[in-house]
Parts: sequence; C-alpha cells; structure tokens
Amino acid sequence: MEGTALLQLPEGMLVDQIQITESGLVIEIVAEQYDLVLVARREERLRSLATKLHHQFHVDPEVLVADLSRPGDIEHIERRIAEAGMLDVLVNAAGFGIPGTFVENPLERYLEMIAVHVLASVRLSHAALPSMIARGQGTIINVSSIGAFMTGPGDETYCATKAYLTVFSEALQAELMGTGVRVQALCPGFTHTEFHDQPVYEPYHLKAKIPKALWMSADEVVEQSLKALKQGRVICIPGFKNRVLVALARSPLKPLLLKLLEKRLRN
Ligand SMILES: NC(=O)c1ccc[n+]([C@@H]2O[C@H](COP(=O)([O-])OP(=O)(O)OC[C@H]3O[C@@H](n4cnc5c(N)ncnc54)[C@H](OP(=O)(O)O)[C@@H]3O)[C@@H](O)[C@H]2O)c1
Repeated sequence: MEGTALLQLPEGMLVDQIQITESGLVIEIVAEQYDLVLVARREERLRSLATKLHHQFHVDPEVLVADLSRPGDIEHIERRIAEAGMLDVLVNAAGFGIPGTFVENPLERYLEMIAVHVLASVRLSHAALPSMIARGQGTIINVSSIGAFMTGPGDETYCATKAYLTVFSEALQAELMGTGVRVQALCPGFTHTEFHDQPVYEPYHLKAKIPKALWMSADEVVEQSLKALKQGRVICIPGFKNRVLVALARSPLKPLLLKLLEKRLRN
C-alpha cells in the first residue's frame, strides 16, 4: 500500500471505479495503491460496500460514519486525516439537491447544503494539504457540477456552492503549482446515481423529462475524471454534450438556454 484515500461516497461516482476494475483503472488508482477510508452517514451501506470491496480486492476499507453538515463530524475526519499523516487522495463528493423554490424550502436545508458542499470540502482540503505538500504529491477531487456554470431558477444555492467549488479548485491549483499536488473540479452533468432517486425529486419526474442523451453513467464520468487528472486539467466537464451546454451557458445565448431548461424541467 502506498497511502490512504479518503472517499466521501459509498455507492456514487467514485466508487463506481470499482466496477471498471477490468480496465485496470481501479486496481491502479484505488484498490492496490491505497488504504481506503469511506465516509458517509449511512453506516450499513458503508459496511456492505466495505465487505464487497474486501471480497473483490482483498482490501479492508475503514468506515467513517459522519454527517458532513455537522462541524463536530468534520472535525473528527480532520483528526483522522492528521493521524494518517499521508493522505494521498481526497475526494470531496458528498452532495445533494434541493428541488423547489428558495423561499418555500426550509432555510436549514440550504445551510446544510452550504456546509456539506462548501465548508466540509474547504476544511478537509485544508487538513489534507500540509502533508501532501510536504511529500510533494497528492490529489484532491472536488465534485462540482455543470450547475456551477448555470444560474437557473430554483437551484440558486446548488449552483452557487458548485461555482464556489469550481473557482476554489482552480485557484487552489494555481497556488499549488510546482508542489506536485493536483486539484480537480469535476463538473458532471446528469449522471445515473442515487442523486435523482431521492424522494424529494419524485414529483419532478426528472429522469423522464431530461433527454436520455444527456445522461451519463458514473463509470464514464469517473473515467473522464481520471483522464483529466493525467492530463493535468483542473476543470473536468465529462461528456461532449455537457461541454456544449457549458459553452452555451458562458455565451450570450445563456438566457435562451436557461429558458429552455426551465421549460423542460417545469412542464
Ligand atoms: N448525479 C448527478 O446527476 C450529478 C450531477 C452533477 C453533480 N453531481 C454531484 O456529484 C456528487 C455525488 O453525488 P452522486 O450523484 O453520486 O449522488 P448520490 O448517489 O446521492 O451520492 C451522494 C453521497 O453523498 C452522501 N451524503 C449526502 N449528504 C451527506 C452528509 N450530510 N454527510 C455525509 N455524506 C453525505 C450520501 O451518503 P449518505 O446519504 O449515506 O450520507 C451519498 O453517498 C454530489 O456532490 C453531486 O452534487 C451529481
């Protein structure tokens, strides 16, 4: 083992690397090189994933149950990072959406989102970096979203927190130039995970409303993230269609794009 990788999600994007082991990516990136630390709230899911990994790769991932919206739980992980002394990979991926309108939803949910997306990612990056810099190597992946480039109604806090992560990652990588530490803002579009299966999304029927062609598999997203890391690209927008959407969102056609998206999602 070469070091430790701390992953914030049990079944979502990063862990889908495990399903593409045959391609050699996971063996290279996760299972062979790193001791794994898996972080999320649902202990049972984490433990069953750890068992699955044990059977598949003969590894024994550590399970860290934490609610990243709680400062005390983040502190616990910061201590674990300090103890490890040699964290090689940090994936800040925990996240969720809040459908509906800002004024109608409870304020607490938005504060939780800011805590999970922004505060936890900033605090854990800060905790991980000193040892990464000292050893001249390390990787931080902040899972953002193409939402970082959109500013549609109903997703204000989601888009704003993801924009924070994207700008933070880009600026941090500039600051870390020459240290050997790599930072990535991974900005996926619609991806098949549990994200849109949450009960809060049920009334919106998003899976039916979003054209099939816009959805990607988690494997594809992960593969492109790893490729971008190798190429030294800080902002990774997986998928040609997502790159077109982002280009439109950064062009004078943005109002038209947002109108189309809103129409599609609201009707
Ligand atoms: N799927 C998409 O279409 C899509 C598109 C763009 C960006 N993303 C981003 O990708 C990231 C990963 O999401 P996903 O698609 O893999 O969705 P997912 O399958 O729902 O995974 C989200 C993970 O975050 C964990 N989590 C949520 N709240 C948490 C909290 N308070 N503390 C600790 N862990 C928490 C969940 O575990 P527990 O519930 O057990 O805590 C779950 O493992 C998110 O940041 C999301 O914004 C997703």
